Amino acid sequence: MLVNQQHFRTIWPKFDDGKAMVQVIDQTRLPHVFAVADIASLQDMVHAIKTMQVRGAPLIGAAAAYGIALAMEESCTDVQLSHAAITLVAARPTAVNLKWAVDRMLARLQPLPLQDRPRAAWAEAAVICDEDVLLNQAIGQHGLEIICQQVRSKTRTLNILTHCNAGWLATVDFGTALAPIYAARDAGINLHVWVGETRPRNQGASLTAWELGQHGVPHTVISDNAGGHLMLQGQVDMVIVGADRVTATGDVCNKIGTYLKALAAYHGDVTGARIPFYAAVPSPTIDWTIEEGVAHIEIEERHADELIWISGKLADGTIASVNVLPSDTQVVNPAFDVTPAKFVTGIITEHGVFAPDQLREMLECREDA
Ligand code: MRU
Repeated sequence: MLVNQQHFRTIWPKFDDGKAMVQVIDQTRLPHVFAVADIASLQDMVHAIKTMQVRGAPLIGAAAAYGIALAMEESCTDVQLSHAAITLVAARPTAVNLKWAVDRMLARLQPLPLQDRPRAAWAEAAVICDEDVLLNQAIGQHGLEIICQQVRSKTRTLNILTHCNAGWLATVDFGTALAPIYAARDAGINLHVWVGETRPRNQGASLTAWELGQHGVPHTVISDNAGGHLMLQGQVDMVIVGADRVTATGDVCNKIGTYLKALAAYHGDVTGARIPFYAAVPSPTIDWTIEEGVAHIEIEERHADELIWISGKLADGTIASVNVLPSDTQVVNPAFDVTPAKFVTGIITEHGVFAPDQLREMLECREDA
């Protein structure tokens, strides 16, 4: 996607004078500073994932693949490979793309002679990235069809609500939840996006609003608590979110607060008309080994500091963090929640749109491919 009219992906390798590294857009500095961070080792990559310089389920997967490639530059033994895999998977437990990418790298590298592993690792990581871009473009096209159906029943601007950031910053390019929105905007559809700010880390306010602005998509940031009110008022026509993991039965695990949006959408506007609630999900985000999400998906518990401190730009332009809680206040900070499938209208995938209870049909699409 474009940043100041220049095309960027979120992650790419850099090979200089025989030295290999990875570069990423540093998401901890947006929206106030656009900066590229150098990642030169496995340890740097684990740090980047943990501190959320890179974040979003598909991007974490791509980052982990490059983390393995960096680890192979250091040493390409079996011990190093399994150390890299264990460290990367432990960095963030909820998004299944991370484990998916690591497993794929292991399957590619383990059978190879040691000296062939570094080159193969860089190549496989690049393929994972290119595939992510294609999956997201396909999600964009399938989601566009749903948006077009909604537009047909409206005589005014279509209002779509999203939560967190599932845009191109959360992927290698194009995004998941935002891919249909970009496709619709490019097709000239008159739409507007409500962006929940997404406390505690404000990925909606800081990242989604920034990237929608870069692409010229009309949008408005709302507090997380405003979504239900706007739905009752008839000001939300559909909801599209991303996901960090979706179960085989269509339970959707996504950023904390998603469940409340889904509940409100299920109860609909003031007439009781249900508001369609979609999750846009590439196949690596589906965990076919889990049926029931609430009981079986591990929810990342993040540091209390995310609630205690808020970071932003002061009037003089400096970036600062301020403390918003009384001292010694107890804090609990689950980063994700699970929306049970009954509240989900459909899952938008690269193979088409599936009702949650039909998601397994996607496996047949994959086998046909
Ligand atoms: O904690 P984050 O910022 O990594 O959480 C990201 C989300 O919840 C996204 O909405 C999700 O990963 C979908 S990414 C396309």
